[in-house]
Formats: sequence, structure tokens, C-alpha cells
Amino acid sequence: MPPYAYPQGNACLKRTLNLQPHPEGGFFAQTHAMDETVPSPFADGAQRQLATQIYYLLAASSSSSPSSSYRGKLHLNKSTTYHLLHQGRARYTLVRPTTDGTKPQVRHVVMGEDAGRGELRQLVVEGGWWKASEVPDEDLREARAEEGDKGLDATGCLISEVVVPGFSFDDHEFLTRKGLVELFGGDEHAPEVQQLLPY
Ligand code: GUN
Repeated sequence: MPPYAYPQGNACLKRTLNLQPHPEGGFFAQTHAMDETVPSPFADGAQRQLATQIYYLLAASSSSSPSSSYRGKLHLNKSTTYHLLHQGRARYTLVRPTTDGTKPQVRHVVMGEDAGRGELRQLVVEGGWWKASEVPDEDLREARAEEGDKGLDATGCLISEVVVPGFSFDDHEFLTRKGLVELFGGDEHAPEVQQLLPY
């Protein structure tokens, strides 16, 4: 069994953890929300729960099972998000907007268990960064090579996310195509724009 796959399969994980489709892509269930609220310093003092926690699953699937969602959309949260790996691997694309007119840098990190290859079991993404995650292409390729199309049903990445102050869609934004072009100085042919369009 390759290290990125897990025997239960994505369908079983979705059932046992009661995961639902997330608007960002992938599947999630909120597992805790603190009752206490605080004025969020990142949302002009608006009241937010102190912290919220979710399971988040990126899941591939064979062509015969329709519910594949192995890549998320680029989005931003005003709060900080702590990511903790349970199983599988996910490649994160991170972009921090700049305020001085310079081009933002695009960073890639992989959450995974192989510290020797620079993979992270913990990832902190501060508020204000654009973020998208996906099952690495090589994991999808390897699953197909070793187990055929069916191997995709057990290929994915399960993490927990803790958002501080807690998650609110009022603090959440998807990156539109127009926003992406503006982020890179209005040049829709910029290599970064072309690279990020799939998200
Ligand atoms: N993304 C990270 N945390 C959350 C959450 O609590 N709810 C939703 N809908 N999305 C999240």
C-alpha cells in the first residue's frame, strides 16, 4: 500500500466522519466551535468564536464513482489557520498579496509524513494569504500505476484545521479570475497567472 493511500478508502472516511462537500472543494465536518466569542483583530473587531475546528478531506475517486474532489479553490481567510496532518499528502499553493506594488511570491509546501523530503505534519497559514490545496499529481499517477483507476478511491489527504479566531464566511473570500490577474499587476499572460488558473 503506497504511503499516501489508506485502506478504508475515501467513501468510508466520508461516512464515518460525516464529511460534506466544502464550497472550497474537498469535504469537511466542523468538529468543534468554542462558545466564547472575541472581537477579531483581523475583522475590524467583529465578534467571532474563539476557535473552530474541522476535519478536511481531499479525495480522489475512480471514474465509476462520481464524487472526486482532490483539488481546492484559491481562497483567503482573515483568521490564522493551523493545519494538522492525519493521513495522505497535500500540496499547498500559498500566495501573500503585497501592498508595495511588487509581485506576490507563490510558495508551495507539501503536508506529508516524509520530513526528509521537507514534508510538513503541521502547517500554519496566517490570515491574508491566498491558499489552495490538492492531492499531488504524482500520488494520483502512482495510485493509477499500482492499482489502476480503482486505486484512486483510497487516494487523498485527511487533515484537521483549527481557525483562530473561529471561522466565518464573512472573513472568507474566493479568488476570482479578475482578482488573480490584478494580484499579478493586471497582466493576464504573467506566468504566475497561467500557473494558478486551475485553482
Ligand atoms: N474552513 C475552515 N474552518 C471552517 C469551518 O469551521 N467551517 C467552514 N464552513 N469552513 C471552514
